[in-house]
Amino acid sequence: MCGIVGILGTHEVAPSLVEALRRLEYRGYDSAGIATLNDGHLDRRRAVGKLVNLSDLLVHDPLPGKAGIGHTRWATHGAPTVTNAHPHKAGPVAVVHNGIIENFRALREELAAHGLRPESETDTETVALLTQHHMAQGLSPVAAADRTLARLEGAFALVFLFDGEEDLLVAARKGSPLAIGHGKGEMYVGSDAIALASLTGQITYLEEGDRAVLTRSSLTIQDAAGAPALREMREVRLDAARIDKGGHKHFMAKEIAEQPTVIAQTMQTYLGADGRSIVLPGDGVDFSQISRLSLVACGTAFFACMTAKYWFERIAGLPVDIDIASEFRYREPPITPGTVALFVSQSGETADTLAALRYCAGRADRILSVVNVPESSIARESALSLPTHAGPEIGVASTKAFTCQLTVLLLLALKAGHDRGHLSDDALAEKLSSLRALPSLVNTALGASDALKAVAEDLAQAEDVLFLGRGAMYPLAHEGALKLKEISYIHAEAYASGELKHGPIALIDAHLPVIVLAPHDRLFDKTVSNMQEVMARGGKVVLLTDSRGHAAAKEGLWHHAIFPQVSEELAPILYAIPAQLLAYHTAVAKGTDVDQPRNLAKSVTVE
Ligand code: AGP
Repeated sequence: MCGIVGILGTHEVAPSLVEALRRLEYRGYDSAGIATLNDGHLDRRRAVGKLVNLSDLLVHDPLPGKAGIGHTRWATHGAPTVTNAHPHKAGPVAVVHNGIIENFRALREELAAHGLRPESETDTETVALLTQHHMAQGLSPVAAADRTLARLEGAFALVFLFDGEEDLLVAARKGSPLAIGHGKGEMYVGSDAIALASLTGQITYLEEGDRAVLTRSSLTIQDAAGAPALREMREVRLDAARIDKGGHKHFMAKEIAEQPTVIAQTMQTYLGADGRSIVLPGDGVDFSQISRLSLVACGTAFFACMTAKYWFERIAGLPVDIDIASEFRYREPPITPGTVALFVSQSGETADTLAALRYCAGRADRILSVVNVPESSIARESALSLPTHAGPEIGVASTKAFTCQLTVLLLLALKAGHDRGHLSDDALAEKLSSLRALPSLVNTALGASDALKAVAEDLAQAEDVLFLGRGAMYPLAHEGALKLKEISYIHAEAYASGELKHGPIALIDAHLPVIVLAPHDRLFDKTVSNMQEVMARGGKVVLLTDSRGHAAAKEGLWHHAIFPQVSEELAPILYAIPAQLLAYHTAVAKGTDVDQPRNLAKSVTVE
């Protein structure tokens, strides 16, 4: 999604604006720009493509000024061009925006009647024109911005900068996050704390509907109802080390490698001191009082929910519905009494997941969430938010957040099993003991990286790839397909192994690699039959299994990789590693932009 930054500084702000935008690159973008008050007047520099193009422009055509705004644009309305790049300016006002203004066409027609016509194709320029119109009617900058905000429909985070107003920024959020940073005699605003990490760790998060007026010495917030509001200022530790590549070639590689540590960190926060129990934050969750669990998410987070369904139903006998948020929110399903809704999201800002949460508010008995950003919208709108401790995930492809989501969901399923009498104290203690061994098993799995790099060299030649899995490995087949397609751009899809004969086997030929995720578990023999059906038709099978599985089914394999023996419950978390590594190495072999794949954004804050 788009990235936003604003600075009321005591020095030239252009370099700090660009540095803040660099920290927002992970969100995905296709153009960038900044505006400052240059000798009191608004002036802009904008460039298409990567930030380096904007930096080059600024070298040749510097932009002085101690107050400014900046933006990385992920195109929604209008192609990535300089004209469409933010900041957008109309008369005495410039704005940067993340989100979608749904009624911009009607507003544009209204403004045309006043002779105000846009230069760009964007919805954002309408915000600048409307504000210019209100100022032309005599309103002050803040009053003009307020009048504009009241007319906007849709989701937005906005920052306004005004001609001649050297000590003023106006910021507003509705559906897209916005953070205020407190400096020494300076004030900042950004899409998130990461953007401001090089400037400050003193952060105030705006709430839904807030509008803020910033000067270098003050922050005034009014809430959605227009009443004065006080928002907590908190210390957010995002030291530079945590958001750099740490010596890896890509953020994704760093984040894959961090998994043993962050899975352990996440697990520890939920284990009782005795190591035999599970402790949840806040009021916790008593699963004996729940008759149905509704799991809702998007993308990789949805595949975590899909996996958790197997765990909750098999370990705890708890019925689980799973839904993709963008379908759930418009299907408007009946929520029966005793249902608890749980939303999974790395960013905590995914628009569809947030909308699905809001559909459940007032309908479900309780709203829970599993998120990686504790102060995110989804976290704050949940009755209880259960954090993953994966740390900032910069690579667009979710890796460590996924395995931390699975870790939390498995802990919840184990607690549900105990609460509902399916697991005795000792049985729970035993499962927790094997869970504690997981980080080191994950570390062992990371050792297969070179073997998988060799497979990836071949895989990179494919145009289509099929992933197969059974049981709780079936959702992982989907995750493996998503990882591969989103960073290598190779078409990939997933099927339950048992579905092969119901159609997909027609696809099998010597050009279609089939990746089979199959630890030697109770379903292994059935999967071997499927593999043999594939190989009998000239299909090329890559088997990801353990030593027992390889010994039982090594004949005719195109490639294989062997992973540690692990319980059926832990297998989906462990086998996420080869799925990630296979995608990563294939993308590197293909030379795609691993951390910021084309067309993708890290957090989809618009629907
Ligand atoms: C994951 O690799 C994808 N980039 C994407 O599917 C992501 O999982 C999805 O957009 C959900 O994001 P969230 O977890 O922040 O809600």
